Amino acid sequence: MSYEHIRVETRGAVGLVTLDRPEAMNALCDGLLREVSAAVRAFAADDGVGAVVLTGGDEVFAAGADIKEMQGRPFVDLFLGDFPNSHQEVWVTLEQCRKPVIAAVAGYALGGGCELAMACDFILAAETAKFGQPEVKIGALPGAGGTQRLTRLVGKSKAMEMCLTGRLMDAAEAERVGLVSRVLPVERLLDEALAVAGRIAELSRPAVFMAKEAVKVADETTLQEGLRFERRLFEAAFATADCAEGMAAFAGKRKPAFRNR
Ligand code: CAA
Repeated sequence: MSYEHIRVETRGAVGLVTLDRPEAMNALCDGLLREVSAAVRAFAADDGVGAVVLTGGDEVFAAGADIKEMQGRPFVDLFLGDFPNSHQEVWVTLEQCRKPVIAAVAGYALGGGCELAMACDFILAAETAKFGQPEVKIGALPGAGGTQRLTRLVGKSKAMEMCLTGRLMDAAEAERVGLVSRVLPVERLLDEALAVAGRIAELSRPAVFMAKEAVKVADETTLQEGLRFERRLFEAAFATADCAEGMAAFAGKRKPAFRNR
């Protein structure tokens, strides 16, 4: 498939998606988001790929939904169409993707851009990263998970302040409050994201899928239900050949040879 707004490549067992609409600061037009969705789905279906990195490059991750494209859309069309999920199935694609997706964020991740990063499994940020939900400044509010995912990630007080004022958070603050897992110099961001994704891709895929699924459940259920779910998956891991191999390799002081079985 050929893409207009993104670049798609594989680096070993890692799928790399780069937003590539510099003239609009990678604003998330429908076409771009459809392409991201298609690329992530293709990587999800590709046995040769074990993890995905989503980035906007060194300058900007994404300055949000494309305001010029959204402008003037009638309420009824949005409402009946369940916008943005209908136009932009990427939100559902990322929610359903079982392979880890890492966001590598440099520069602005605003509005839908912040929401896109948060829809990934974790965020590695460059020192230049700036996160924000400034929709209130254009008379709107976050519409692709910002009020929900940001609140879960950083707590009510910070989320309220960001959504109600549009204040941006720099990388150091984002790391301090748990929005991002690590901050790196911008020149090392992509290499490190690819290296982390590469290390994940070398692990047992069933174990990685189970771990991701269990962590995601923590957002959606009670502690007791989550602990039960985790225990059942932990026990299930023992049915995989990779678990036997991983433990035998540890005991035998050798590198495991996982077969994703
Ligand atoms: N949509 C469409 N175009 C955008 C855009 C956006 N979100 N953000 C930037 N652009 C375009 C600008 O219009 C400009 O294009 P032209 O050269 O053709 O005029 C180009 O990108 C460069 O932008 P600026 O000249 O504004 O660059 P700057 O460095 O002065 O400012 C910025 C950068 C602070 C990111 C500023 O562009 C900005 O505030 N952008 C909008 C941020 C925003 O409000 N995002 C939320 C969108 S709504 C949303 O995302 C809803 C949702 O939850 C789903």
